[in-house]
Amino acid sequence: MRTLTALLCGALLAGSVHAAPFAKGDPRIGKTLHDKACISCHVSMVGGDGSKMYTRADRKVKTAQQLAARISVCNTNTGTGWFPEDELNVAAYLNQQYYKFK
Ligand code: HEC
Repeated sequence: MRTLTALLCGALLAGSVHAAPFAKGDPRIGKTLHDKACISCHVSMVGGDGSKMYTRADRKVKTAQQLAARISVCNTNTGTGWFPEDELNVAAYLNQQYYKFK
C-alpha cells in the first residue's frame, strides 16, 4: 500500500513538471478574485496599485510552487475563503501578469 502511494505521488509530480504552471486556472476569474480580496492591503504597504508587492526586487516568491503556497497561506490567513480552484485561478493571473514562471 505504501509503495502504491509512493508510486502515485511520483507519477503526479512527474506529470506536473511538464505542464505549464497553473495551466488549468483562468486568469480572468483570478484577476476579479484577486482585485476584490487582496489588493487593498498590498497597496497600503507598497503604494501605487499594489503590484510592486509582486515586482519588487527582493520579492519572496521564486518558484511556481512558492506562488501557489503563498496564495494558499494568504487565503487562509485573511479568511478569504477561496476554494482550491479559486486559488488556482488567482495563481494563473499572478503568474501571467507578474511572475511568468514557465
Ligand atoms: C492583511 C494584509 C494582506 C492581505 C489581505 C493580503 N496580503 Fe499578500 N502580502 C501581505 C504582506 C505583508 C506580504 C509581504 C510578506 C513578506 O514580505 O514576507 C504579502 C505578500 C504576498 C505575496 C508574495 C509577494 C512576493 O514577495 O513575491 C503574494 C503572492 C501575496 N501576498 C498574495 C496575496 C493574495 C493572493 C491575497 C488575497 C487572498 C493577499 N496576498 C492578501 C499582506 C497581505
